[in-house]
Order: sequence, then structure tokens, then C-alpha cells
Amino acid sequence: MNGIEGMSRRSFLRLLGVGATMTALAACAPAAAPAAAPAAGAPAAAAAPAAADAGKLEIFSWWTSGGEVGALQALYDIYSREYPDVEVINAALAGGTGQGGDMKALLETRMMGGQPPESFQVHLGRELIDSHVVAGRMDPLDDLFAEAGFNDVFPKDLLSIASYEGHPWSVPVNIHRANVLWYRPSKLEAVGATEPPKDWDEFFVMADKLKEAGIPAIAIAGADGNFNGHVLETILIATMGPDDWRGLFDGSVSWEDERVTKGLEILNKLWDYTLSDYLSITWGDINDRFVGDEGPAMMIMGDWTHGVLKSMGFTDYKWAASPGTDGIFDMLSDSFGLPKGVQYRDNAVNWLKVCGSKEGQDAFNPIKGSIPARTDADLSVYDEYQLSAMDDWASNTLVPSLQHGAAAKQSFLLDYDLAVNNMLATRDVAVAQADMVTAAEEAEFGK
Ligand code: GAL
Repeated sequence: MNGIEGMSRRSFLRLLGVGATMTALAACAPAAAPAAAPAAGAPAAAAAPAAADAGKLEIFSWWTSGGEVGALQALYDIYSREYPDVEVINAALAGGTGQGGDMKALLETRMMGGQPPESFQVHLGRELIDSHVVAGRMDPLDDLFAEAGFNDVFPKDLLSIASYEGHPWSVPVNIHRANVLWYRPSKLEAVGATEPPKDWDEFFVMADKLKEAGIPAIAIAGADGNFNGHVLETILIATMGPDDWRGLFDGSVSWEDERVTKGLEILNKLWDYTLSDYLSITWGDINDRFVGDEGPAMMIMGDWTHGVLKSMGFTDYKWAASPGTDGIFDMLSDSFGLPKGVQYRDNAVNWLKVCGSKEGQDAFNPIKGSIPARTDADLSVYDEYQLSAMDDWASNTLVPSLQHGAAAKQSFLLDYDLAVNNMLATRDVAVAQADMVTAAEEAEFGK
């Protein structure tokens, strides 16, 4: 099935906040959203530095793990080769609630104070639009997209996700897949299995056998609310199916649905099949545990895990769609945009050019574990996993990731993660679901 064409693409795009207004407004002048006033003492964009002073390029991200660091560095290397006099400041900061929560909090302070970094990592679509575009804190990128030819090299669907009121707001550097089951074939062999479980019933049959053999079935980073939110997302995509997963965010499907209950029950049960100290394991630790001799047999995580495992030189692992999601591609895209009033605007625009360039994407993605957002990649630099992900991206049904900013506004994600976190402590499915119902009402999906 061709997902991009065959899925209810319109509802996918509607969910991501792109609608008919886009075409209608495409011909208008760039959005005239009010600029955030520079803080007292902050140099205004107009007060350009003298030619001799190439200034700085400060980049915010939450990329601090293996793979992430190397991939970002590959972009910096290209940038520094092209613009050797610019001082690159890597302001990476991990941690917090929701992906990049601590970085986002700091960013908010800097944006509100009129002292934004030249650019920052942000998920393409709702996350950027709801956090900073609607508030008028970003510059539209129409000129850059036209000049750099981005309109011809990014798929139309991605351009739509990047756009709001007819203007593109950030440059996608990759496509990540969130619903991947990473597994250790040697551990599955211990219970006579050669293939990973295809659905959750099969999973728990295998998990019981693994338990008997003394092998934890699944990796869980219980000290990291985001991790559980991510795993639950992939379970809900399986229990709801792609259309009704999307429906959870456009108001057409209720969070009271019994398939949400079922998903929460699966997550609740999963915690009985993991490492005994899972409550104190963080995302930073879980990869070390996964590769260890005493580690779990399987882990559900996005394909940045591939980047992390590659950076460790680890090879005893394979991949499949997470249980019950074969043929579905749970997508997200990392991107960079242009805050209004940055100190060194040219440096920022040049950074965005590198992020969107073929050279940049073909240097970044092989290390990151993701696939390029551009359609003209040099396939020879990608590995077996990535080539298979490219095939799936082209042929699967696409659904937007909640945990990674594509499906819903950030405020809902934070409530959802909190509900999952509370359930980790109470093991109370009904309360978690009631919290999610309230959060969905507050998010006013579909209104
Ligand atoms: C995601 C992000 C990925 C990866 C991951 C784990 O939100 O899109 O690029 O960094 O978090 O840090």
C-alpha cells in the first residue's frame, strides 16, 4: 500500500495543522507577525557586525547522546569549512519533561527576552508552530526555500507539515521513525525464537519464555517519563490503528475509547517483563544496558537508537516494526528555524542552508540513524537499516508521532507524559486514562 497517497492523507495533514488556507495564502507577502522586542542591551539585527567580525552561530539542541553528537558535529564541520571565521557555539542541553524539555525552557526564556540563539532544534510541524510561530517569534523562510531550491527537493507532505499560513517555518534535516522494535537475535535464540513478535499477544508469549530463561524481555528507562510515553505511543498505534490514532488528535476519537484502555494495560503489563531496577534507569543508561550480557532482549525506541548503537560499534541487533504496527511508519522530523531578531542573521541563514543541503543531510543522517528529508540522497552512504527505512517511508501508512512533536501541541504532550509517569508509580490504568481524557479536553482537539 502506498501510504503517502493511500492513507487518509488529508486528515493526516489536517491533523498537522495544514489546511486549505495554505494554498490561498501562499502568494501573500511574508507573515507580518510582530517581532519580539530585543531586550535592553541586546544588539538588534540591524546593528550588523563589522565585516571583520564574523560573529557567532549559537545552536540549541538536545543532542548529547552517541550518534546525536557525531551527527550534529558533521553539520558543524561543513559549516566551519564554509564559514571558518564564525564561532560555532554548541549549546546542547538534554533532559526535562517532553523531548528536550530543559532546552525548550531555556529557549523560551531567551526568546521572551529577545536574545534567541541563531537557531534551535525543533520538531517539524505542530511543535514549532504552536510554540513560537503563532506567537510571532519566528521569521518565515520563503526566500531561503526559493533560493536554496528546497521546494523542489523536500517531499510535498513535508513542505506542508513545515508550513503555516502559507509560509515554511523550519528546514527539515531528517526523517525519524519512532515505532521500531530493536532486538538481540542471540537472546531470542535462547528461547528458540528466530523472529521477533509481530503483535502484543505474541510478545507476551515470548516474554514469558524469556522470563523463565532469566532474560528481561524489554528495555524500559523508567526514570525517564519520555521513554514510557514513547512506548505507549507505539502501543496505541497498534491498538487504535492508523486512522483512529490520528483521530485521537482531531477530536474524532475519544481518549475514553476502550482501545486506549487496552494500550495502557499492555504498557502496565510490560513493566513486569523488564530489568528489575527499571525505575532508576534513564534514557542515557538504557542503551548501555541493552548491549550488556545481562541486558533485555528487546527495546522499543525511535531510530536514533540505531545511531547510538552504531556509535558504540555494537552489531548484535536487528529491527522490526514495533508489535502490531507493521506497514505503519510513525514519523517525526527534526528541523531548524530562524528566530526573529537573532544577533547574526546571515550566520543563521547559512546554517539553515547547510541543514537543508544534500551534503549536510548525507553527512548528518548516516550517523544519526535517520533518513534524509531530501529526495535526492546519495544512497551509497546509508546502511542496511536506513535503506529499509527509506523503503518503508515510501510505502507505509504515515502517522505523526505524539511524543516527538508531530501530532499535537506541546501542552498536551506534557500532560500525557505526566499521566504515564504517574501510572508508573501507581500502576493505576483508570486514573491514567482519566487524566488523558481531561488533557484532551483541555487541548480542545478538533476545535
Ligand atoms: C527526538 C529527536 C531525535 C532524538 C530523540 C532522542 O525527539 O527527534 O532526534 O534526538 O529525541 O534524543
